[in-house]
Amino acid sequence: MNRRDLLKMAGGGSVLAAVSGREQKAQAQAAKAANGMPVPKIKDIKVIETEPQGVRLSVVKITTDQDGLYGFGCATFTQRADLVTPAVEKYLKPFLMGKTTDKIEDIWQSCYDSSYWKNGPVLNCAISGVDQALWDIKGRMAGMPVYDLVGGKCREAADCYSHASGEDFPQLLDSARKIMAQGFRHVRVQVGVPGMAAYGSGRGNKEVKALHSGPVFESEPYMKRALKMFEVVRKELGDEVELLHDVHERVQPHQAVQFAKDLEKFNLFFLEDVLSPEDIAYFRQIRQQCTTPLAMGELFNSPHEWMPLISERLIDYIRVHVSQAGGFTPCRKIAILGEMYGVRTAWHGPGDVSPVGHCANVTLDVVSYNFGIQEYSAFNDRAREVFHYCPVMKDGYLYPNDTPGWGIELDEKAAAKYPFGTGEQGERKNLNGGWGEVRRRDGQVIKQ
Ligand code: CO
Repeated sequence: MNRRDLLKMAGGGSVLAAVSGREQKAQAQAAKAANGMPVPKIKDIKVIETEPQGVRLSVVKITTDQDGLYGFGCATFTQRADLVTPAVEKYLKPFLMGKTTDKIEDIWQSCYDSSYWKNGPVLNCAISGVDQALWDIKGRMAGMPVYDLVGGKCREAADCYSHASGEDFPQLLDSARKIMAQGFRHVRVQVGVPGMAAYGSGRGNKEVKALHSGPVFESEPYMKRALKMFEVVRKELGDEVELLHDVHERVQPHQAVQFAKDLEKFNLFFLEDVLSPEDIAYFRQIRQQCTTPLAMGELFNSPHEWMPLISERLIDYIRVHVSQAGGFTPCRKIAILGEMYGVRTAWHGPGDVSPVGHCANVTLDVVSYNFGIQEYSAFNDRAREVFHYCPVMKDGYLYPNDTPGWGIELDEKAAAKYPFGTGEQGERKNLNGGWGEVRRRDGQVIKQ
């Protein structure tokens, strides 16, 4: 049996089929390791761009000098996707060509330092693609899933939350009930604010008078509406379901303090991004005044942002977007740092993470003692056509693949069927995948 057959066997079939062949495979791999496999060298690095699900995904593929040995890593930064490819192919590729694939920590540190200026989203995502691809390669070489390389699972699967939303309360309740019927024990709830461009929900057809013609958002009506929503949701869905809510940094710091206090009585699982990264010092005030659990971090790029929040125990859940922080290597360190301070993980997991990135997320989930919750977004048929062996969701639990590396394969021909722009409409398409703007009534642009 050659290496390609071995990998095919390891990656093929359902999760259950792979389990049955595992012992045999492990023995074959151990024999190979004993034979002294030479350390692979990096032969090629490229970015595969694809949009099977309406969001621009960037995946790095590293090919080695050993036949059939390669790896994939998520480098997705959907709002500036075209910038990631040159960051990888014009800068990291020449830096890494011919280097061996074994020294992941060394490669991460040297890539991080090679731009001199660092900690920006484009460069971090580029490094993440390389970093995750190297973990994938190491797992494929060892015949082990990445979770085994870093010590093994301490839970079987990751408890997930899913997004419920609606223009109004009945729509939201309907959406939440559907999610609960699928087995989810945790639901994020977002409701529209009539006439306004609220985050994560429709807006209804009420007119709001404004000094401009674009989408309008005001924080006061939003907060009143959100408090009413929790009253309705608790009354209709009961006390047992765990509720989450994302402010998406849309209120002023003093409002955030009051809002977190007002929400205390509804016993949220967590309140997310109640402050923007620029205002994180206000977490100290919120902490002093209420017990609402706080989650933050999807916009973070730098240790300067997460270090104080973790080391001063100012948040309960760290929600870093794994590619944005530089990949699996730094995020494993963030998880361990959090464990020391009692801060749990809730890695960002919406549609703008590729299925490869979701594999990295769920791997961190099952190996980290201080795992809190995983955000989940479903993979549609097109995504499964491009990415084979996506992690499996069952009864609200996400399962990592138990095949070598991330256990995922990317079909490049299928990926090419869905170039960037596929499925996008209107403003998003015109902005090359970027976001438009939302303004207050008076015309002031807001963070969103
Ligand atoms: Co969020």
